Amino acid sequence: MKKKLLGFVLGTSLVMGLAACGGGSDTNKDTASGGEAAKIFDQKCSGCHGGDLKGGMGPNLTKIGSTLSKDDILNTIKNGKGAMPPNVIQGDDADKVADWLAAKK
Ligand code: HEC
Repeated sequence: MKKKLLGFVLGTSLVMGLAACGGGSDTNKDTASGGEAAKIFDQKCSGCHGGDLKGGMGPNLTKIGSTLSKDDILNTIKNGKGAMPPNVIQGDDADKVADWLAAKK
């Protein structure tokens, strides 16, 4: 069971790695529109908040910008909240994601 899961994880990251290589030229194209923030979120936060921000183990964040400011979100990322661990991302990454989420209204 464990081995099977590992194989799945490895297989998935291999496929994702190949896909990333294929689209390499436009990786940074849409940084301004949140492409990079979305990618970070996808890697670090979507496990709990869902790939489409609609929530999972963590709350729905699709309209988080209407209740929390960028600073509030940054604080949540830094300090954690309830079952959410602190410092999942830091520095520039945290700043980008907070900025991107604050625009979700
Ligand atoms: C281990 C699971 C987990 C991960 C990983 C995680 N979160 Fe959370 N998050 C939660 C849970 C659970 C809550 C609800 C905490 C509470 O209110 O008690 C939460 C709450 C939040 C809130 C506050 C929502 C509100 O309405 O107050 C924000 C903003 C947030 N998360 C953003 C993020 C971001 C950005 C990331 C990635 C850097 C992230 N989370 C990663 C589980 C997670």
